[in-house]
Amino acid sequence: MARRLLLGGLLGVLLLLVLDALAARLGLASGLIPTLPGTALWTTSRAAGVTAFVALSLDVVFGLLVSTGAADRLVPRARSVELHRWLSSVALTLTGVHAAALLGDRFVRFDVLDVLVPFLSSYRALAVGLGVLTAYGALVVHVSFQLRKRLGTRAWRRLHYLSFAVFLGALLHGVLAGSDSASLGMRLTYASAGGAVLLLTALRLVRALRARRRATA
Ligand code: HEM
Repeated sequence: MARRLLLGGLLGVLLLLVLDALAARLGLASGLIPTLPGTALWTTSRAAGVTAFVALSLDVVFGLLVSTGAADRLVPRARSVELHRWLSSVALTLTGVHAAALLGDRFVRFDVLDVLVPFLSSYRALAVGLGVLTAYGALVVHVSFQLRKRLGTRAWRRLHYLSFAVFLGALLHGVLAGSDSASLGMRLTYASAGGAVLLLTALRLVRALRARRRATA
């Protein structure tokens, strides 16, 4: 009950902000969200974006560790599943902070529509649009965890493959949108995340092929 009330309240606020953004774009209002001078919100958004990416990458890595069983000797599988679910919530929450902080930033001047509608923002439109689509994909994958029983294992697993597109989307979005993508720290972050996911995906494919061959033999 409390959860439903909270969700209803959040949706109500979101609707109000959407109407406010539409009115501001039509010149009928000046916008409800105050913007702050300085770089505090800009820095907050970027820090949240990078940590969201790290959480999402670890999330995908733990998912692949669960499906390949590659780390079963080091981490019990049940613990990996728990971590996998938790990291999905962490990545989504940080993505929310990453996007929300942009609303009060005076440099980019995003409104709620820029954050909700892919490819609408005038700031790095393609790269930011990719980020918005990625956020929706991550939300779908996260919600599907809760609906696993209702969906059935087969449909749930198919939906779960969307995680690969979500990871790729986040990687491209970070590289293309980030102002510091060329720095050594960010290069190392993107390369190690991409390398780990690629390696574990290859292992997953090899194991799946072997299992299929054994089954036909
Ligand atoms: C509503 C969805 C999103 C919006 C509106 C958005 C917006 C932005 C913007 C405007 C930037 C450019 C910052 C700069 O110039 O440095 C950026 C960078 C970035 N975003 Fe997003 N993003 C979204 C979703 C995501 C998601 C889902 C992730 C990963 C899980 C993510 C991770 C990043 C990263 C890693 C950077 C680079 C930060 C840097 O190098 O400073 N974003 N995003």
